[in-house]
Amino acid sequence: MGRKVVAGNWKMNLGLAEGVQLVKEIEANYTSNDEIRVMAFVPSLFVSTLADTASSLEIGVQNFYHESKGAFTGEISIEQVTGCGAFIGLIGHSERRSIFGETNELLKAKVDAAVANEFEFIFCCGEPLEVREAGNENDHVRQQLEESLFHLSANDMKEILIAYEPVWAIGTGKTASTQQAEDMHSAIRSWISEKYGEDIADSVSILYGGSCNPQNASELFACENVDGGLIGGASLKADSFCSIINA
Ligand code: PGA
Repeated sequence: MGRKVVAGNWKMNLGLAEGVQLVKEIEANYTSNDEIRVMAFVPSLFVSTLADTASSLEIGVQNFYHESKGAFTGEISIEQVTGCGAFIGLIGHSERRSIFGETNELLKAKVDAAVANEFEFIFCCGEPLEVREAGNENDHVRQQLEESLFHLSANDMKEILIAYEPVWAIGTGKTASTQQAEDMHSAIRSWISEKYGEDIADSVSILYGGSCNPQNASELFACENVDGGLIGGASLKADSFCSIINA
């Protein structure tokens, strides 16, 4: 399956000094190796400083805009991000979709800009509670992938990282059961396989996000199609984040 990844998503938390401290503590508490990538998606203001502070921890941004420059007040471009030392970003986190109204069409533009700039990304997908309760989670997630990602060439697709985040499990303390996580992850892999073939489907890392913590991480990561996690709340403390990495 895809390479193992544990990624922290700090969201709009921590000050710069706390962020520097957290990076140092994380790096002091895990040993980097070739089998697992460890990343932190930090507030973009902190990228430059944290990229200088970090050695093995990869620093990424939580969002970026698809245009390369111009009159887009408040946005940041891929070139600006890479110029500050981050080479990976999140696309389509559920909070960007639900709070900031990002559509599948806009996310497709971000995917295309990232691919054109050889900027790595984690594409986030997942269903809200009412969709899960109506039993439509597979159609919902498949549509997110089809409308924003599945136009890519096979060559570009094989490098992709995906995070499945059931929205009802984000920041709520509710976690998908291992069976719910595995079912969706294997569905995602089978859709990639139908379109791009099995080798490419196997090379895509599919991370689980949604109240992943030191208590449930080993069980989730033991699922065949779960290649790691995108961690929110539990990534803000070095001890809980490092326990998840060790899981
Ligand atoms: P959570 O957030 O771990 O706090 O649920 C996950 C995410 O939104 O990336």
